[in-house]
Amino acid sequence: MHALGVGLLGLGTVGTGVARVLLGKRAALERRIGRPVEIHHVLVRDTGKRRGVDLAAHLVTDPQAVIADEQTDVVVEVLGGEEPARSLILEAIEHGKHVVTANKEVMAKHGPTILAAAAARGVTVAYEASVGGGIPLIGPFQLDLAANDITSVVGIVNGTTNYILTRMTESRASFADALAEAQELGYAEPDPTNDVEGWDAAYKLAILASLAFGAPVKPEQVFREGITRVSQRDILYAAEMGYRIKLLAIGRLVDGQVETRVHPSLVHLGSMLASVDGSFNAVQVAGDLIGQALFYGRGAGSEPTASAVIADLIALGTSVGRGSPQSRAAETPPLRPMRLLQSRYFLRLLTLDRPGVMAAIATVLGDRGISLASVVQKESVVLGDDVPGAEIVLTTHLANEAAIQDALDTLRHMPVIKTVGSLLRVYE
Ligand SMILES: NC(=O)c1ccc[n+]([C@@H]2O[C@H](COP(=O)([O-])OP(=O)(O)OC[C@H]3O[C@@H](n4cnc5c(N)ncnc54)[C@H](OP(=O)(O)O)[C@@H]3O)[C@@H](O)[C@H]2O)c1
Repeated sequence: MHALGVGLLGLGTVGTGVARVLLGKRAALERRIGRPVEIHHVLVRDTGKRRGVDLAAHLVTDPQAVIADEQTDVVVEVLGGEEPARSLILEAIEHGKHVVTANKEVMAKHGPTILAAAAARGVTVAYEASVGGGIPLIGPFQLDLAANDITSVVGIVNGTTNYILTRMTESRASFADALAEAQELGYAEPDPTNDVEGWDAAYKLAILASLAFGAPVKPEQVFREGITRVSQRDILYAAEMGYRIKLLAIGRLVDGQVETRVHPSLVHLGSMLASVDGSFNAVQVAGDLIGQALFYGRGAGSEPTASAVIADLIALGTSVGRGSPQSRAAETPPLRPMRLLQSRYFLRLLTLDRPGVMAAIATVLGDRGISLASVVQKESVVLGDDVPGAEIVLTTHLANEAAIQDALDTLRHMPVIKTVGSLLRVYE
């Protein structure tokens, strides 16, 4: 039987990991797949760069040498970014190649188009590595959880922001210092926008929610708030109240509608998600048959991600299909607008230190059907120009998002309120 021919698009962190494992585990993979795996061509930008792997394959700068090569059975796309990755995946499919990709941005934005093109051409596009690095998530949704009606998928899916929030909690670092440390250690990119503004998590949630609920969710339809405004004060108050602050990606089916949101959340200290620290990821899935399941592990890195890419290659090599990812629901459920969200809220306000302030705030909230669960007011703080002020932290009982936003609008315009420090949602 002829070898399984692999063409690599990219030889960076993930590509190098894939190449190393394919070489290092050559014999074991041949036993598992029933034929050898051979890398023929590898697309890079700079063929002169030193690589951490000793490959016999040709390094090329012309993508056609990889995707149009007769010896290539599977194109492994580990370039990253939207273009040219999206176009090359579609071209590879046109050439009748199977595709394995680690690209969450392309799969989140163009997954339905790409999967439809693959189905029409009779090839498979596998993307286990696009969410959760080494943690199996796509496969379980397509296969192992297929008998369930999924009701929620909630997780910590971005290692960079989890590392930053962990450092802010453990060493009381500021956001800026924790980010700088993450950049030094290589956990954060020089331009961290995608991670800290929640885009990376939104891409991953769009992919997971589409699989879980059968509704194609686009990244821009995910409600998204990053962690840049989470302050040391929020973390301290949350800890006093028995919570950790985590950037959660939350997908839920509520009254037949799909709710998707990424934002910093207060997570109860005793819960499983609160103990997921550093660069680790975890995703909690609820289904009607399984109840709850937790997937936990390394969400990124050369070897964990290579593990997922090569699992897809083995599945393709042995023709064990992973099933159609697009047909979970009989009817596509609609997306749920954020204004309908019911949540508990954490609100930190800086106010003038005067009698009646607390009563005025309670009235604004009460008029909108929002009731208080707890109130913390520490010693006075000094506002600008030596004006005595107070920092007030409130949590609410279950309330409606539209009502709390309306209350915030009113609070922001009240002369006694100096700053609305933060509004965070409590996850229960
Ligand atoms: N890193 C992780 O831990 C991780 C985890 C899960 C998923 N992923 C995903 O895996 C993908 C790859 O990530 P990575 O961290 O391995 O990226 P990376 O280290 O930046 O590597 C990208 C590779 O692609 C090549 N490349 C990029 N654009 C190219 C172009 N236009 N033409 C030719 N070659 C090009 C680069 O060539 P040169 O080497 O010549 O510059 C490099 O070899 C991304 O989609 C990422 O989201 C990464």
